[in-house]
Amino acid sequence: MKKIYITRAIPQVGIDMLTQKGFEVHVGKSNDPISQKELIRAIKGKEFDGIITLLTDAVDAKVFDTSPSVRIVSNYATGFDNINLVDAKNHHVTVANAPAGHSARSVAEFSLSLTLALLTRIVEADDFVRKGKYKGWSPMNFIGSDMQGKTVGLIGAGRIGSMFAKYARSLDLTVLYTDIKRNPTFEQECGAQFCPTLVELLPRCDVVSIHVPLLPSTRHLMNEEMIAHMKKTAVLINTSRGPVVDEKALEVALREKRIAGAALDVFEFEPKISRGMRKLPNVILTPHIASASDSARNEMAIIAAQNIIDYFEGKVPANIVTV
Ligand code: GLV
Repeated sequence: MKKIYITRAIPQVGIDMLTQKGFEVHVGKSNDPISQKELIRAIKGKEFDGIITLLTDAVDAKVFDTSPSVRIVSNYATGFDNINLVDAKNHHVTVANAPAGHSARSVAEFSLSLTLALLTRIVEADDFVRKGKYKGWSPMNFIGSDMQGKTVGLIGAGRIGSMFAKYARSLDLTVLYTDIKRNPTFEQECGAQFCPTLVELLPRCDVVSIHVPLLPSTRHLMNEEMIAHMKKTAVLINTSRGPVVDEKALEVALREKRIAGAALDVFEFEPKISRGMRKLPNVILTPHIASASDSARNEMAIIAAQNIIDYFEGKVPANIVTV
């Protein structure tokens, strides 16, 4: 009987799939992210054959050395920057991710929600009402802006970026995108215009939304210099990975009103967020929940479990990721 460790609870549907196939499943008890030391302690000497990890688990040679019996790591996430793929390859461990269709949709919808919430100032207004400051209707209260005539710039036009583009088109927005590869089908389907560089894209956009994975080439992609190319009236949305944005540079730009606002679901030093950032009124902060729709999370559990089942049934899992 193969033994699988799941570092923290995931939707039951994935766990049931594994037990029904005869796997012995152990689930970590913590509700909070665990450190690498805790992960190592949990698997040491237990002869697990596979692990389902979360995006908060740092997986590298130390983990593989601790548990040489582990043959597959299935990451319950679309992103897999928490796993050292070179170390996995050197230890002959297969790595797979869980790029659920529902999570692409959920993240795109969340990105659009953040955009609308920023432009309409919903979060600030809610806070104002809760604090008892609302004394009656006023012509000048919380003037925001609507989407009429706006241009959205997508950094990355993969599954999530292209879904966002479809929503943007349905709102009659102009869609620009930049990516490492031009995608003519996407351009045709969404009427999106390609910008070969960020520098060409940024000054034309009212909304800039980031949809790239975290890679050495995308770390601090939005740095001080790039933020300076944005319009003063523009907003930045990040639902990808925190380190894609230089958060200190963004905080300064927001404080000095060099851009109008930002909405961040992910953070450079997650879960830490600077006090300065938390105090800014022109930023919306959410706790990495863009893919937290019920359908997305269930589908992610199904995919993560299926990767393990396929592997041990001698099939090639559909979502293998390699260096
Ligand atoms: C969420 O951030 C994911 O990568 O699935």
